[in-house]
Amino acid sequence: METKIVKAYGDPVKDAPVMAEAGKIIKAGGLVAIPTETVYGLAGDALNPDSARKIYEAKGRASDNPLIVHIADIGDMSYITEGIPDMAYKLAEKFWPGPLTMILKKSDKVPLRTTGGLDTVAVRFPVNDIAREFIKASGGYIAAPSANVSGRPSCTSAKHCIEDLSGRIEMIIDGGEVGIGLESTIVDLTQDVPCLLRPGYISSRMLRDVLGDMDTDAAVYEQVSDDVRPKAPGMKYRHYAPKGELTIVRGPKDEVITEIRRRIAEHEARGEKCAVISSHENARQYDPDKVRDIGSISDEEEIGRRLFSILRDMDSMEIEYIYSESFDTPRLGEAIMNRLMKAAGHKVIEV
Ligand code: TXA
Ligand code: MG
Repeated sequence: METKIVKAYGDPVKDAPVMAEAGKIIKAGGLVAIPTETVYGLAGDALNPDSARKIYEAKGRASDNPLIVHIADIGDMSYITEGIPDMAYKLAEKFWPGPLTMILKKSDKVPLRTTGGLDTVAVRFPVNDIAREFIKASGGYIAAPSANVSGRPSCTSAKHCIEDLSGRIEMIIDGGEVGIGLESTIVDLTQDVPCLLRPGYISSRMLRDVLGDMDTDAAVYEQVSDDVRPKAPGMKYRHYAPKGELTIVRGPKDEVITEIRRRIAEHEARGEKCAVISSHENARQYDPDKVRDIGSISDEEEIGRRLFSILRDMDSMEIEYIYSESFDTPRLGEAIMNRLMKAAGHKVIEV
């Protein structure tokens, strides 16, 4: 299949022809990669079980891993869900449209293929203009996992989508680089006490301010063993992973730098390709040929935005060993470290 690559600008007039064509593809059961404010998504018709099947196939994803349904109008939430709790309206009022996904009871309109067999559905109303135009042009209910091939870092630009999906889907809409770069926050509202399943740009603190009490699923901070089923099935897979071996080094700044330099020297002596992911503040402490500056520790949004693209660069440079500093920043730190820890398979050296 030849994948058509088209640009969109978030301007309804300019984008109209692209949206009309994309909408046709979706309604005919095809797939389109689209930008959102978080990461690029691989979109299909959420109400068509055959589209869900094609998404799993194009991504190489296990079909027990449910898809998020994207809407472009709060009113559309009631068509795909049942028994919406008050908390959902409160969160929607505060954070929608935006990078928050809520798990609710599904209605019979949503095929089980879309939800990976679950009787719940993940619902998200993105704020990105291109995503919203696209959803409206495509019938209003769009299933979209992150557009990466399963196991690879999520796509934060159309270039990443082309790397992963070219030849596998009908169209890629290029809306430039995403603004956030980390997938949406996911909160499960189907229990008595809401539960955080995936941290994101909407922090747990921001959620607690609205919800009061909230649990956190164990899979957010720990590696879950095979016999535990995390609430978000996607959290059990080794995710966001570069091909090289990634290790996080954590501790006082000077000791972290010394430890990383020592390990890099060892790999070099063995002729192995290695690299460092460093804060801007520390970047000059490492060999300039090996260091990637992820941004200033005082600009956590930049660190979040650049993380996946740096992990992908590590693959294109065929790096075998990657050492990363730890980025425990005030608000986004929980989301950044959740992704970094998964990418590292929870391999951490405390110094
Ligand atoms: O920012 C995002 O959320 C992006 C963009 C494209 O919107 N999408 C995204 O989708 O990250 P995906 O499929 O890569 O991650 C969705 C996660 C998976 O871990 C999945 O297991 C979980 O959400 N999930 C989906 N439906 C669920 C459900 N009904 N119950 C529990 N977890 C669910
Ligand atoms: Mg994903």
